[in-house]
Amino acid sequence: MIRLDTENTTLLFSVDGNNILGVEYYGKRITDTNFDGLLSVHREPRAERLVASSFGAYDFRESSLLAEYADGTFVTRLRYCGHNFTKKPDISPLPSARDADETLEFCLWDEVTELTVKQYFSAYKKCDVITSFCVIENGGKSPCWLRKAMSLQLDLSGDKFEITTFNGAWGRERIPSRHKPGIGIFRNDSKSGASSAESNPLIYVEEKRGAKRHFAFNLLYSGNHLEEVEITSYNSVRILTGINDFMFRKKLMPCQAFTTPEAVMCVAESDEELETRMHAFVKRHIVRGEWAERERPVVFNNWEATYFDMTEEKILCLADGAAQIGAELFVLDDGWFGQRYDENSSMGDWYPNCKKLKDGLAGLADNLRGKGLKFGFWVEPEMISKNSDLYRAHPEYAMEIPGREPYIQRGEMMLDLTNPEVRQYLVDSLSHVMEECKADFIKWDFNRLMTDVFTVCGEMGAYFHEYILGLYEVIRNLTDRYPHVLFESCASGGGRMDLGLLCFMPQVWTSDNTDARDRIAIQEGTLFGYPQSVMSAHVSICPNHQTGDSTSIENRFNVASCGLLGFEIDFMKCTASDMETMRRQTEYYKQHRRLLQFGRYRKVESCFDSDRSVWMVLGENEAIAVIVELENKVCRHGEPYLLSGLDEESLYEVTMRPQCNVEQTLSFQATGSYLCNVGLVLGDLFADETDRHENSNSIASRMFYIRKIS
Ligand code: GLA
Repeated sequence: MIRLDTENTTLLFSVDGNNILGVEYYGKRITDTNFDGLLSVHREPRAERLVASSFGAYDFRESSLLAEYADGTFVTRLRYCGHNFTKKPDISPLPSARDADETLEFCLWDEVTELTVKQYFSAYKKCDVITSFCVIENGGKSPCWLRKAMSLQLDLSGDKFEITTFNGAWGRERIPSRHKPGIGIFRNDSKSGASSAESNPLIYVEEKRGAKRHFAFNLLYSGNHLEEVEITSYNSVRILTGINDFMFRKKLMPCQAFTTPEAVMCVAESDEELETRMHAFVKRHIVRGEWAERERPVVFNNWEATYFDMTEEKILCLADGAAQIGAELFVLDDGWFGQRYDENSSMGDWYPNCKKLKDGLAGLADNLRGKGLKFGFWVEPEMISKNSDLYRAHPEYAMEIPGREPYIQRGEMMLDLTNPEVRQYLVDSLSHVMEECKADFIKWDFNRLMTDVFTVCGEMGAYFHEYILGLYEVIRNLTDRYPHVLFESCASGGGRMDLGLLCFMPQVWTSDNTDARDRIAIQEGTLFGYPQSVMSAHVSICPNHQTGDSTSIENRFNVASCGLLGFEIDFMKCTASDMETMRRQTEYYKQHRRLLQFGRYRKVESCFDSDRSVWMVLGENEAIAVIVELENKVCRHGEPYLLSGLDEESLYEVTMRPQCNVEQTLSFQATGSYLCNVGLVLGDLFADETDRHENSNSIASRMFYIRKIS
C-alpha cells in the first residue's frame, strides 16, 4: 500500500500481483499503518479501480489514455514499474499549483510499445487538496498518436452518485445544475477553445450511499476540457478530467513526451466543507505574485457610462466622480485605441486614438494620477479585426483557413497564438503601451470563441491545446515582466473563470450581468470553486443595462461587496445624495476590506434552495453577514436568520451598516450561541417601504458587522 495524506484526507494506492496499480481508497483520513491483514481479504476490487487505463486490458470504460501506434493498433497495457516521493516537476508553459507539500510519482509502462506514463499526485495538506497530472513518453522506435490524454482518473465503487456542474451562458455564468445519472456516461465539456461560460471545469460529485463522501474536481486549464463520470453495471464509477479529446490527435515522436494539465481533487463530508477547502487551495496554491494576498483596489470602470462613445472630457468628468466617491483606480475600457468607434475595427492596433485622447494614454494617466487615481486599461490581445492596421500588415497572423471565408464574431477573428511571431508581436506591443502609461492594471478580455482553427506552425491535431500553451507563454512573459501590475481576466464577462488563468492573473471579471438579483446566483455558483478574492463585482447603472430591472444603490452595493468592489456608474447622471451614498459605501468597504476580500466565506442560506440568500465572511474576531430577501412577501412574519461559524461561547456586538434607504438602524450584543441558534430576529426591518419601492426586482438586503467583544 502506498499512501498520500492531507490533514484530513487519505488517498491509498496498491499494486497487485500482476503489477496493476489501483486506488484502494480516497476519503476521510485513516490512521492505520499496517495493511497486511487487510490486503489478504481485499483482493478483487483493486483491478476495477485503476489509477490509469487504456484500451486493450479488458476494461471497456472510458479510459484515461488512448494511443494509436504506427502499426494501426490501439492496445496499451499499463503495468506499475515503480514509485517514489519526489520534487514536483516544473510543467511550464502549463500553469501549476505552487508550494506542494509532497509529491508522489508513479511509473507505468507498456512493455510492447514502450509507452511510459508518469502519473504524479501532489498533496496540499492544509487545504486537503490533491492534484494530479501525467507525463506520457513514447519510449518506442516509431511515432505514436495520443488520441486521449486525461489528467486524472478516480475509480470508486458504488453506483449512486449525484453530480453538480456549473453551467450557463453570457450573463448567467456558473449556475449550479444538479444531475442524478444512472448507468452510462455523463459528460461536462467545452469545445469552444475556452474553459467557457457554458460549462466550467469545476464539478462536484456526491456519493449517495455508504460513506456519503462529497468530491470536487477542477482543472488548471483555460481551453477545451472534459469531465466524464461513467457509472457501470458493475457497481463502479469512474471520474475523468483533463483536456477534451474532441479533435485531439497529438503526435509523439520516439523519446518525445506530452504533459497534461494539472487536475485538482478534494474530498469532504459536505459541499460547504468542499467550498472552504477549494477556496483555501485557490488562495494558497493558485493565485501568486505580489497581489496574491494584497488588498485589491476599489476600481471605477467607464464601460457602461460611455460604451464606445468615449471622449476625454467625459473620461475626466467620470474620473472626478470616481475620486470623489473614494475609488482608487480608473480602468479605461474598450474604445481608446486605433480607430475603434464600434466593435468592427481596430483589434490588434494597441496604440491610443489621439482624436479621442489628445495626449494619449500617458497624458490621460498623468492627469488621473493627479486626481489621486491609479490607472489601468482594457485590452483584448488575442483578437484581430479585418479592418485594422495589424491585419493589413500581417494577414497571416489571423486564425484563418486558406480558401475559406472566416467566421466573424463580434467583428473579430482570433490571432494564431501557435505562431511564435504572433506571440512576440503581442508581448512587444502590449509592453510598449503598458510602459508608456505606466499601467497599474490590465483588464485582459476575450470576446469570441474558436472556429477557423488552422496553423502552419504547429500541429492541427493539437491546435486547441497549443493555442492555450501559446497564450500561457505570452501571459507568463508579461506578468513576470510587470509583477506590480494587477491583471484581471475577462471573457465576455466570466467566460474564462478557471484555475489556469488564475495562476497568472489574480482576479476575474465575474459576469457582464451586474443586476443585483442575478448576481447573487452567479456569485453563489462561482463561489463553489473560487473564493471571493478572485471575483470582481461592480455597482452599476440603474435600471440595469442587462436586465432592465431597478435595484436600489444600497442593494447593489451589498451584493457587490461579496466580491472585489468596483463602480461602473455614470456620475454625470447622479445626484449629490447618490454621490454621498457611494462615498460612504466605499469608505465602509475600505474599512472592512481585508475581511470582505480575504475572510473565510461561508454560505449560510443559498438562493438556490430558498427565497433568501445569506452569506458571511469570517475573520479572527470579526465577521460580516449579508442578508438578502429575494421575494417581497406581503404580510409575512419575520423569520430569524441563523448565522454560522461564530464562536458560541463569545459575546459579539452586531451593528447594521446604515443604509440611505432605511430609516431604522440596529446595534446590539449577543452571544455566538444566540446568533447561531436563535438567529437575527429582524422583525419588520425588511418591510421598510423606502427600500422596496426603489426596486423592480423585489430584493432587499442588509449588511451587519459582527465584532467579538469578549
Ligand atoms: C466584454 C466585457 C465588458 C466590456 C466589453 C468591451 O463584453 O465583458 O466588460 O469590457 O467587452 O467591449
